[in-house]
Amino acid sequence: MSVVDRYAVAGNPVAHSRSPEIHAAFAAQTGQPLVYERLLCPLDAFAATVQAFAAAGGRGCNITVPFKFEAHALAARLSERARLAGAVNTLRFDAEGWFGDNTDGAGLLRDIELNAQRPLAGRRVLLLGAGGASAGVLGSLIGAKPAQITVANRSVDKAEALIASHQTLAHAMGVKLSAAPLQDCGSGFEVLINGTSASLAGAAVPVGAEVLAPGALVVDMMYGPAAAPFLDWARSHGAQVRDGLGMLIEQAAEAFEIWRGCRPDTAPVLRTLRQAVDAKAPAP
Ligand code: ATR
Repeated sequence: MSVVDRYAVAGNPVAHSRSPEIHAAFAAQTGQPLVYERLLCPLDAFAATVQAFAAAGGRGCNITVPFKFEAHALAARLSERARLAGAVNTLRFDAEGWFGDNTDGAGLLRDIELNAQRPLAGRRVLLLGAGGASAGVLGSLIGAKPAQITVANRSVDKAEALIASHQTLAHAMGVKLSAAPLQDCGSGFEVLINGTSASLAGAAVPVGAEVLAPGALVVDMMYGPAAAPFLDWARSHGAQVRDGLGMLIEQAAEAFEIWRGCRPDTAPVLRTLRQAVDAKAPAP
């Protein structure tokens, strides 16, 4: 019987995933005996692949595109935040039934509030996009009690559906939550978060500069070249910018704690990964 516990990132594709190096760094730092692998799942065989991994001694996995919704359906028990997001990015293979959680929102929030030192309480927040990325973080953003969150999306009906599922929580937290079209989503937001995949499609920044308050914080949930067009635009309008690398490492730390019961120090891992990502970026 192996004494080293196995974890993995399950997705398609997974070759690009930074999760193995992040969790290897956490394991080295905390002395936890584990290995973390990549689990490429055929598009029609996510459940079977993850079940085989668990049967072979796997203790848990992270889930990435496009399986977060299938993972939600596979979990026997869900955290409240995973239930709200309708998606799971962390599975723990408990004997009494698989536990599904979603650490994306907590990761984003920690990166904004602790790493970037921008508490959201009382602030006006604009969230762009109403797909999986935005659904994964909206509950955590509401939990930070900003004054207002506007969810703006190309298809307004999707933004409306997303806020409808979060309205009870928003009421309880005293947050004004609304949906809007991209072309008319208001102005003067102190925090702007991009959860669209517009830049992957080579599309232009989908909002005008009037959405930014002076000195706004702008976060793209992607990192590397995918985040560059949006963040370059924001920087050119005087915003403080942040890509999704901090969020990636913070959501991983949250998953690590769910599995191992201890929380790694994310700062040195973020520094190392930042250097690796910047070294790969094409020269401007
Ligand atoms: P993900 O899981 O990455 O969030 P998704 O669920 O397909 O992927 O959602 C993609 C998001 O990016 C959606 O909000 C989408 O808008 P629509 O709901 O109107 O499709 C948004 N998006 C994609 N391409 C876009 C573009 N060119 N301009 C504006 N928004 C775009």
